[in-house]
Amino acid sequence: MNLNTKQSRSTWRRIADSRLINALAAPNGMGRYLEALNPMWSLDQNRIPAIITAIHRETDDAVTLELSPNGDWPGFRPGQFCQLYIEINGRLHSRSYSLNSRGGRVSLTVKAQADGLVSRHINSALKLGDIVRLSPPMGDFVLPEQLPDAILMVAAGSGITPIIAMIEAALKRGYKGGITLLYYNRSEADTLFNARLQKLASSHGNFSVLAVYSNGQSELRGHFEQQHLLTALGFQDTLNSHTGALSLPTCFVCGPETLIQSVSEEYKQLGYSDKFHAERFKAVVSLSGNTEVVGKLAFKNSQCEVTSDSRNLLDQAEAAGLQPQAGCRMGICHSCSCLKTEGSVRNINSGEISHGEEYIRLCISQPLGDVSLAI
Ligand SMILES: Cc1cc2nc3c(=O)[nH]c(=O)nc-3n(C[C@H](O)[C@H](O)[C@H](O)COP(=O)(O)OP(=O)(O)OC[C@H]3O[C@@H](n4cnc5c(N)ncnc54)[C@H](O)[C@@H]3O)c2cc1C
Ligand code: FES
Repeated sequence: MNLNTKQSRSTWRRIADSRLINALAAPNGMGRYLEALNPMWSLDQNRIPAIITAIHRETDDAVTLELSPNGDWPGFRPGQFCQLYIEINGRLHSRSYSLNSRGGRVSLTVKAQADGLVSRHINSALKLGDIVRLSPPMGDFVLPEQLPDAILMVAAGSGITPIIAMIEAALKRGYKGGITLLYYNRSEADTLFNARLQKLASSHGNFSVLAVYSNGQSELRGHFEQQHLLTALGFQDTLNSHTGALSLPTCFVCGPETLIQSVSEEYKQLGYSDKFHAERFKAVVSLSGNTEVVGKLAFKNSQCEVTSDSRNLLDQAEAAGLQPQAGCRMGICHSCSCLKTEGSVRNINSGEISHGEEYIRLCISQPLGDVSLAI
């Protein structure tokens, strides 16, 4: 039985969806039986199984997983990410990781964070043949269909993952404008994809890398400042001399909040905010006007009620022993969306307060008094 082609999977999905089969396979449904026979035969299109076909150590604290998902994998646009679902000590966890290609396969590169549960597990415990699960790709941090005249990429640390995917895609499309990458790391040894980036730069005259080390020899030093932008633009001018393009390049940034804010500020001051795009790996929590409002938090479907505090509703649901779906934990992937049936919440990112029945994202919602949720 081959369940890995798109055609055979849709046939099996039709069979599994039929009432008779579902009645015979009750209470678990046909999909569960197929999955028990072989995890790769799962019909779950939201958690697509993928087998690890290779593991590459990139730096002391980062690995790349090469993955072969089953036939439900829809493909992705360079710059997008997915949720990786992984079981650790019997509990399912999910985190967002940017998608890339390596050896013709889907790949994810994960940097171990100090105290990080999932990233350290991926770096130290996963092995060839293990199966992980992927959500369909998401996110709009991608290159536009019509490529701009010139591109400035700015990355720090693991923020290079969506950036390199976009650079490689643009060069593969035969992009002729200039691409400059400003890439911030502690030192050369900490730099992800160093050899790959150097190779791209030596084989494409319109791509250049400006490495910036905080702790090592490099032309530019320290954190992002205006001088770094000017140096990058100098490169850009040289590269674009044949097109005569003078305006600021379209900019894509991925890294810590301080880097994103500094580059954004420069673009704003120069009047080019519309050319600025950023992706965050970590939530920006601005609890302005935050006062703790204690109330009752009812998880109706689970028949559970707790006293609430000012933490976000995802943290509070987990603390109450529930396992709601979650991904980015910062309001961008929508996997924690849930129906609030009663009560008021504050959106932690925007500060906006909303009332009554509505769908909310648990990870960025703070309860204000009594709240009931349909989980
Ligand atoms: C859209 C998106 C794409 C992402 N792509 C990648 C990627 O390609 N590669 C990659 O390595 N990571 C990526 N991340 C970050 C990733 O999702 C996890 O947050 C990260 O791996 C840490 O998870 P953890 O379970 O190890 O840490 P946790 O156990 O969740 O947190 C442990 C500690 O680490 C801190 N922490 C969590 N995340 C980060 C972070 N990103 N940087 C610094 N400190 C952090 C927390 O504040 C906490 O103190 C992405 C995140 C998003 C939202
Ligand atoms: S977990 Fe991604 S939006 Fe809440």
